[in-house]
Amino acid sequence: MTGCRYWRLDRHPDGNTHFERALSLCDEAQAELQPDEVRIAVQWLSMDAGTRMWMSPRTDGYQPPLPLGSKMVGLVLGRVSETTDPAFPVGAMVRGFGQWAEQAVVVPALAGLEVVDGSVSDPRQHFGALGMNAWTAYVGVKEVAAVKAGEWLAVSAAAGATGSLACQIGRLLGAKVVGIAGGPDKCRFLTDEIGIDMAIDYRSEDVEARLGTIEGGINAFFDNVGGPILDAVLPNMAHYGRVAICGMVAGYDTDAPMPGPARFDQILMRRLRVEGFFIPDFLERGAEFMPQLREWLDAGKLTMAFDETQGIENVLTAYERMLTGKNIGKVIVKL
Ligand SMILES: NC(=O)c1ccc[n+]([C@@H]2O[C@H](COP(=O)([O-])OP(=O)(O)OC[C@H]3O[C@@H](n4cnc5c(N)ncnc54)[C@H](OP(=O)(O)O)[C@@H]3O)[C@@H](O)[C@H]2O)c1
Repeated sequence: MTGCRYWRLDRHPDGNTHFERALSLCDEAQAELQPDEVRIAVQWLSMDAGTRMWMSPRTDGYQPPLPLGSKMVGLVLGRVSETTDPAFPVGAMVRGFGQWAEQAVVVPALAGLEVVDGSVSDPRQHFGALGMNAWTAYVGVKEVAAVKAGEWLAVSAAAGATGSLACQIGRLLGAKVVGIAGGPDKCRFLTDEIGIDMAIDYRSEDVEARLGTIEGGINAFFDNVGGPILDAVLPNMAHYGRVAICGMVAGYDTDAPMPGPARFDQILMRRLRVEGFFIPDFLERGAEFMPQLREWLDAGKLTMAFDETQGIENVLTAYERMLTGKNIGKVIVKL
């Protein structure tokens, strides 16, 4: 058996930089495959902001923290290199939760492993317009925020993987969309490349004041961030608006509980519905979402920018890029 490099979580990170102080790149001989296991030669790793919480010691998240000394886990895309399961034959292109490793070893049912559609010309789209971020955007915009044609939808972290898809799905459902993102390049991407109606640079503009120029207010808010951005949006919501709490990336780098919105009063004053959602709860409905996402992708109606880094040794650089907001679109690592 040949060796396999992987990332191990040694200690809890402090903040969103210097991840090399918390994780180390290790090498081990590959163990023999156990019954029910599948080995995947990983081709791409998905960098997902939510995984930052798994590195923290908090026990009140949506899943238990990763024990120190474990291999870091995330979504992987690659080809089956060895198998004990006929549903995942050698050579099949698969996606699921595996290790940040050159060869990931998973139990399919626990990993949510799926054989992906080999006819997709750019396989990266299995992490893009056909991936978990797209399902999240679709469920969040269509069902949780329940946006209707003609309404205003606001999206935070709007130029990231989940946010850029939420913006586009909102447009495709007939909404007017305002995206909130960090920096002029991201705002240009949002208005010029994916064609939303308005973009606000929260690093240089007064978000609350700019949202206040939208007549009638925001009907639906897809929030990826929490914190001050949520506080700026709540007083600008229309009466009976819906807030889909998708993520709270502004607070993932603290190990303490994230405080609630300072403008909580606006939930009552504006009769808002606020609902958190977690996409693994919807995984079994993937077959229902995929045809629509595939149709939009094939028709050129969904644009996915990729922020791609090469090499397993550069995973932490890619991860930090995402959590410090240097990315436009989906952050992935090509192995
Ligand atoms: N509920 C679910 O099931 C589910 C599933 C997938 C993702 N999510 C959530 O979706 C959000 C986006 O995740 P992603 O993986 O798609 O990452 P992403 O949006 O591609 O990248 C993260 C983005 O977050 C923004 N950000 C980071 N720190 C921030 C801060 N302090 N204040 C404001 N913005 C900040 C940065 O954009 P700016 O430069 O614009 O700040 C950065 O580009 C996360 O909150 C994640 O937990 C939830």
